[in-house]
Amino acid sequence: RTVYINGDFVPESEAKISIFDRGFLFADAVYEVMAVLNGRLLENAGHIARLERSCRELKLRLPVTAAALEAIQNKLIAVNQLREGAIYLQLSRGSTGDREFDFPQAEVEPTLLLFTQARPVIDNVKARTGIRVVTVEDIRWHRRDIKTVGLLAPCLAKEYAHSQGADDAFLVEDGFITEGSSSNAWIVTEQGTLVTRQLSTDILHGITRRSLLALAARHGIPFEERPFSVEEVYRAGEAFISSATSFIWPVVEIDGKPIGGGKPGRVTLALRNIYVEMAL
Ligand code: PDD
Repeated sequence: RTVYINGDFVPESEAKISIFDRGFLFADAVYEVMAVLNGRLLENAGHIARLERSCRELKLRLPVTAAALEAIQNKLIAVNQLREGAIYLQLSRGSTGDREFDFPQAEVEPTLLLFTQARPVIDNVKARTGIRVVTVEDIRWHRRDIKTVGLLAPCLAKEYAHSQGADDAFLVEDGFITEGSSSNAWIVTEQGTLVTRQLSTDILHGITRRSLLALAARHGIPFEERPFSVEEVYRAGEAFISSATSFIWPVVEIDGKPIGGGKPGRVTLALRNIYVEMAL
């Protein structure tokens, strides 16, 4: 792969960062993941707007304009001949050549890097079969609306899920689901209403989540933005997760109990089809 780092397009083996980079030492960095379909970026403006917001919240300087960023993304897609998959983008506060907690006083060059990931999005097996999840306590920090690279809690949640023979985890706080480990969480009630948690600092403001709500409104699918409990998921007619990399994956089992008879739900698959149509 050819990757991008601080102004240069280089083979991945030649991309280097300092051992003092604050992204590496403190997870002092933000990121974005954008889907690529048919060699085109999906919902890129939304992702860049969220990146700019993450930067503002952390007083991080984005060293390029949104237009320059998009040019970098499109060049990476072209040189790597990426048809389907994702672009990963990370921006860290850079390095002062030592380990100091305080933000650098002097102007420091941030570290901006991007790379491509080829993987099936449309014809993904998990979209067809669905995934099994287990609930696990949400031990993340309290600013989940900022997309930082401090992702050890989600890594632990996924590792726990795999140790239990499941595919992923639903994170739980005070008896209510916050999110999936790297996705927004949804249920469909027995009455056919979509439910997903409302926006706050408790969750990442998913770009896919926002589009799905807009599409639901346009297609007359009722929805509610509110917290839902673990018990509500046990009783739900359907459940699914949303993210840039999955779009929608049905959830067919939670804590060993089948949801909707253990098969991807009707509303879930309909919504996925509507989203895919929009994306193509
Ligand atoms: N994760 N919630 C969390 C905690 C996430 O990490 C993600 C995305 C989402 C969905 O957001 P969006 O629809 O904008 O992708 C929600 C990315 C894909 C990742 O970390 O790889």
